[in-house]
Amino acid sequence: MPADSKLKEKAKKLREKLLDADYKYYVLARPDMDDYEYDKLMKELQELETAYPELKTDDSPTQRVGSDLSNSFETVMHDVPMLSLANSYDEQDLDEFDKRVNNLLKGEKYKYVCELKFDGIAVSLTYKNGMLFRGATRGDGIRGDEITTNLKTIRVIPLNLKSKIDIEVRGEVFFMLEDFFRINEEQETLGEKIYANPRNTAAGSLKLKDSRIVASRRLNMYCYSLRYLEAAEQAKLVSHSENMKILKGLKFPVNDNTRVVGSIEDVKKFCNEVEQERDILPYEIDGVVIKVDSLKQQEKIGSIAKSPRWAIAYKFKAKQATTRLKEITLQVGRIGTITPVAELEPVFLAGSTISRATLHNSDEIERKDIRVGDFVKIEKGGDVIPKVVEVVKDDHHKKLKPFKMPDKCPACNQLIHRPEGEANYYCTNSLCPAQVQGRMEHFVARTAMDIEGLGFQILEKFIELGYLNDVTDIYKLSKHEKELKALDRFGAKSIDNILSSVEKSKERPFEKVLFAIGIRHVGERTARILAKRFKNVEALMAASKEEIEQVHEIGPRIAESVYDFFHTKSNLQMVERLRKAGLKFESEQPAGGAASAKLEGLTFVVTGSLEKYKREEVEELIESLGGKAASSVSKKTNYLLAGAEAGSKLKKAESLGVKVISEDDFDKLIK
Ligand code: IVH
Repeated sequence: MPADSKLKEKAKKLREKLLDADYKYYVLARPDMDDYEYDKLMKELQELETAYPELKTDDSPTQRVGSDLSNSFETVMHDVPMLSLANSYDEQDLDEFDKRVNNLLKGEKYKYVCELKFDGIAVSLTYKNGMLFRGATRGDGIRGDEITTNLKTIRVIPLNLKSKIDIEVRGEVFFMLEDFFRINEEQETLGEKIYANPRNTAAGSLKLKDSRIVASRRLNMYCYSLRYLEAAEQAKLVSHSENMKILKGLKFPVNDNTRVVGSIEDVKKFCNEVEQERDILPYEIDGVVIKVDSLKQQEKIGSIAKSPRWAIAYKFKAKQATTRLKEITLQVGRIGTITPVAELEPVFLAGSTISRATLHNSDEIERKDIRVGDFVKIEKGGDVIPKVVEVVKDDHHKKLKPFKMPDKCPACNQLIHRPEGEANYYCTNSLCPAQVQGRMEHFVARTAMDIEGLGFQILEKFIELGYLNDVTDIYKLSKHEKELKALDRFGAKSIDNILSSVEKSKERPFEKVLFAIGIRHVGERTARILAKRFKNVEALMAASKEEIEQVHEIGPRIAESVYDFFHTKSNLQMVERLRKAGLKFESEQPAGGAASAKLEGLTFVVTGSLEKYKREEVEELIESLGGKAASSVSKKTNYLLAGAEAGSKLKKAESLGVKVISEDDFDKLIK
C-alpha cells in the first residue's frame, strides 16, 4: 500500500527535525535535542523509509549513516578548475605579494580577508534547486572523484538549502583532533593499523568504498568559497567576506576565525596571532590564507597557471615538540654510509606521530651534545623527515654518557671508517648485508628498473635464503622458479608476477640501467645526461675524468665517482653479467643528436606540480627536442615551465625577467 499524505507529511517533519538537530549540534555547537530523542526520531524515519521506500528522498538524514552500496568514484570535470595557492613563508614574502596586488590594482584601495588554512582535503559541493546534487574531490584541479555518498555522511554538510538555488560551494574536509585520536584508539583496540596523521586519514576516509565506515569516522568541514552556477546570479556577488555571510545564512559551516583588514601590516598581525594560538585549536592548520576581498578586484588581478594572483597562503614555521631519545641506532645505506638515527618516544607533531628522526652524522651529534636518554626538541617542516634541533640541557642531561660512535658496522660487524675531510663513516665491506639489501632496493625501485613485487620484506627473505647475493642474481631468479613457488608465504601467482616483472625490466632504457647500478652521486638526472652524451657503457668506461667533467652540468665530484666506479673490477664484472642477462647498455637515441631540434639552444627549468606531464617526462621531451632542461633558474634560462605551487624558482624567474610559461604554453611551443 502506498504511503498516504499523512505519512508523507510525517516523514517530512522527521527529516526537518533531524537535519535541524544536526545543524544545531554540529555547526552551531548548540544542541537542542538529546541523543536519546535524536536516535528515536532517526529510527522512526528509517522504519518509515523501509516500509515505504517512496518516502526516501535524496536529502534524507538517514543517508548520513551511509549504505552498503559500494562506491565506484566516477571521474567528474570541475566546471571551474579548483586552483591551489602560492605560498609565502615570511613577512618579506607578504610584502612582495602586497606590492604585486597594489601594482595590478593601479592604486585602487583594497581590503584583504584573512582565513585559517585548514590542513585537510579540498572538496566541491554542487547544489541544484537547493539540493545537494554532487560532491567531488579536488583531484588534479581539473578532474576529481565523485564522492557524493561519502560527503553526505558529514553532518555539517547541508543536504538541502532553504532557497532553491544552483550553487557550487568549496571547502576543506578534515578531522577534529579529538575524532582522529578516537579513531586511532578504536584501531588499536581492534589490533588494526594506527593512522599517522589526520590529513591523510581524512583523504583515505573520503575514498572508502563503504560509506557506513565513512559515517562512523565523523569527518568535518569548513567552507571557503561560493559560486552561483548562473552567471547573472554570480554577477550580483560583491566580496568574499559577504559570500561567507551568505554561506552562513544557508547553514554551511564557516569558520569564524577570520578578519577583514585594510593593510598588509594587519595581515601580518593576524598571521602572528594565529601562529601563537595554533596549538590550542581543536584541528590542524598549516597557515593562513590571505585573499583580496572584492570579487571585482579578484577578477582584475586574475590568475596564473594553477593559482590565483589575488590570494596567497602564509605557511607557518616548522612546529617543534619535545620527547625522549630512547636510543641511537645506525643505518647502513646502499653505498655503506652510516647514518645515526634517533629512536624517540613517539610524539604527535604537525599531523603525524614521530618515533624516529635523522641525526645526520657523528659530528652533528657531538656538536649538539646529543646523549641517549636526553629530552630533545624535534622539528618538522612540510613533509620533510623530522630532525633533532637541540637537546634540553638540564641536570638530567649532565648525568648521561656522551655518545660515542661504535667502531664496527651494526650489520656486518666489520670495522667502519671515516675518510679524511668527510663527515660520514662508511662500512667498506661491499658484501655487508645491509648494503646488499640497500643496493637491491635501489635497483628494483620504480624510478630505476621498476621491478614490481620485490618489496623490502621479499628481498630480505630472498637474501636470507641465499637466492640473492647481488643485483645480478635478480636475473637468475627464474632458474629457481619451482623452489620459490614451493616456499610457504608465496603463492605461485606472486612468483609469476615477480618473474614477469624481472623479464620486463630488460626493456628499461640505458639511462635507467645506469641509474639502477648505483654509482655514487649519480641520480636519475645525471644518469640521463651521461646516457645521452656517451651513448653506451663502453664510451663511458673509456672516458677520462676530464672528459666526463666536460659534460654540461657534471661536476668534479660526479666525474670522479663515475670514473672510479668503472675502474673497479667488481663493478665491471657486474656490468658484464647484467649485459649477458639482456639489459640495455646502449642508448636508443643517437648520441647528442635530437629527434627534432625545435627547442635547440633553449634552456628550460621545470618547477611546481604539473598536470599533464610527469616532471621527468617533460624534461625528457625538452631534451629530445634539442633543448636543455636545467635544474636552477639563472639569467641563461629562457623559460620557466611552472606548475602549481611553484615556489622560489618562480620568484627568481620573475625577478630575473625570465619568461614564465604554463603547460599549455609549452604545448603550443612544441607543436
Ligand atoms: S582558498 C584559489 N581558503 O589550501 C583558492 N583554501 O594550497 C583556493 N585550504 O587546495 C583555495 N584552507 O585545499 C582556501 N581558507 C582556505 C583554505 C584553503 C585550506 C586549502 C585548499 C587548497 C589549498 C591551497
